[in-house]
Amino acid sequence: MKYYITTPIYYVNAAPHIGHAYTTIVADLWKRFKHMQGYEAFITTGSDEHGVNVERAAQRIGKSSLEFCNVIAAEFKDQWKRLGLDIDFFQRTTSPQHAKVVQDLFERCRKNGYIYKGSYTGQYCIYDNLYVNDAKPGDPCPDCGRPTETITEENFFFKLSAFQDWLLELYEKQPDFIQPETRRNEVISFVKSGLSDLSITRTNVKWGIPVEGEAPHVFYVWFDALSTYMSAVEGKGLWPADLHIIGKEIVRFHAIYWPAFLKAGGIELPKRIFAHGWLLFENDKMSKSRGNIVRADPIRQVMGVDALRYFLLREVVFGQDGSFSYDALVGRYNSDLANGLGNLASRTLAMINQYRGGVIPEGADAEIGALAGQTIATVETAFGRFEFSRGLEAIWNLISAVDKFIVQKAPWKLAKLAESEAELNTTLYTSAEALRIATALLYPVMPQSTPKIWAQLGMKEPIESVRLSSLQWEQLPAGQKIREVAAVFPRIEAKPAIEKMRELEVEVTAQQNAMLGKVPEPATETAPEPPKIPIDDFVKVDLRVGLVLSAEPVKGADKLLHLKVDIGEGEPRTIVAGIAEAYKPEQMVNRKVVIVANLQPRKLRGLTSNGMIVAASVEGGKPVLAGFLEDIPVGARLK
Ligand code: MSP
Repeated sequence: MKYYITTPIYYVNAAPHIGHAYTTIVADLWKRFKHMQGYEAFITTGSDEHGVNVERAAQRIGKSSLEFCNVIAAEFKDQWKRLGLDIDFFQRTTSPQHAKVVQDLFERCRKNGYIYKGSYTGQYCIYDNLYVNDAKPGDPCPDCGRPTETITEENFFFKLSAFQDWLLELYEKQPDFIQPETRRNEVISFVKSGLSDLSITRTNVKWGIPVEGEAPHVFYVWFDALSTYMSAVEGKGLWPADLHIIGKEIVRFHAIYWPAFLKAGGIELPKRIFAHGWLLFENDKMSKSRGNIVRADPIRQVMGVDALRYFLLREVVFGQDGSFSYDALVGRYNSDLANGLGNLASRTLAMINQYRGGVIPEGADAEIGALAGQTIATVETAFGRFEFSRGLEAIWNLISAVDKFIVQKAPWKLAKLAESEAELNTTLYTSAEALRIATALLYPVMPQSTPKIWAQLGMKEPIESVRLSSLQWEQLPAGQKIREVAAVFPRIEAKPAIEKMRELEVEVTAQQNAMLGKVPEPATETAPEPPKIPIDDFVKVDLRVGLVLSAEPVKGADKLLHLKVDIGEGEPRTIVAGIAEAYKPEQMVNRKVVIVANLQPRKLRGLTSNGMIVAASVEGGKPVLAGFLEDIPVGARLK
């Protein structure tokens, strides 16, 4: 049976980061899980290359739009390869074959009476490619907050309003069409509030798929982009898609526009849409302006892809927002992988070597066997409901039960007594068999490390061939010789690993910026250039490394924090800083910061501030403090 999965196709005006990786990793996991259920599963991903935003980004760095897209699309493709993701089709919206599919969908909708020509004047967000109905000139985009642009165009319109009742019926009849429930409710109430017709072509954009015979009309990017899901598998017998995996911010496009376009064209609908939550960095939204975007590559290089996959699936409840941090990543790795699974594997295999010459003995413990059986069922149900973290918890329950079992049995004692031979056999077999089952269940989540444990257990069939329906307790053949044992999850020292990842992050960011031609944010681009100053002016500013000793809120001032900062003068300075909306007092204590030490003192809310803390700031954003990657003594001057 075939099963077709898609990820969003990613915009080429940013380089791949951990958010894109998250969705694509889940698609890869789902494909492997579906294989284990006996399906032949396929994944489409790709790049969304049209639109005024891309056109402008390319112009800014003096490249043609296609040249620009070629570079970034290749980077996305490489990224998935480096992460070992099993992608079947990578579709680019600039492919001529794709253009035909888009044009064909349009013609079908037109023939069926759902397209008309009309005029649109209104606000448009070029970043999200969103028509913002009801917005006034100058209003910000409701999604990204950046200013919308006023456009007036004669366009082709799609009669979205005709689909309101049909869509509501669809959601009713197929309750799992949109998941999770929160997103479904959100979509239902949006549709109930009334749907306006949708402009699906543009005339003031050149970089798009032309509407045949209707120059200068090109397709609205979402009409173009969504069609990728079909064009990528044209002629392969895979449509309709079984699952569209997307982030929550694009659920309306997928759950409202897309089914309506397809219905209008008389084409089968996808079966299900799952919208996951957002990955935050240390609980903050990742964004270019905050400078806190995390890339997957540094993590891959230092900790391996499976560490990242495991973390994302275990730590974040799929469907909800979740926070990423390097500390949490290394913490999870050490506690669950190095100490948990890794330790169970090495101790079990080492004991089989030591006490049974590397041959798996006979004998299975019924209680652990029952738990393992239950675990197989729980994992299949939980994963099947996209509850990956719950499935993983069940596997770790099994691992800790086996750990306890080993401690109770104390094989090192049993080995000394001739009459305990059978009990020792049972202990060893049970541990190895539970390890085999845990490893098989973990394959979709950690496809690079589980085959190693599998091989060390001496298994002959490749782990990919395991099917959940036939995975059972006591299938591990007694008498099987285990292979050479090596640690699959060696313990990782947090500090150097995190430093290395941060260092690599800076490198990868620089590479990506170079690739994007350091596309500046339009806001920065239009800001006036600051005047040039001679170096003598700069040295007048006394910048020092300071250590925050204490921090507390200032009564009646939401934005201010009252800090005591040691800058190496013997007496700490009192500094009142407008950073309370971005930093909690406890985040500040013990933090090294940059201080302007020779500013004239200023009185704020009755406190005399004797210096200023240096932070980056962006229009409308919160301040981000300057800091150091390396250790640096308090009081050092910045020059
Ligand atoms: N091109 C459109 C999608 C068209 S699909 C027919 C688009 N592209 S995007 O490059 O902005 O990618 C958005 C997707 O990337 C999200 O839906 C989500 O899958 C993933 N993520 C990007 N940042 C993310 C986080 N910070 N957290 C989790 N995933 C996010 O929208």
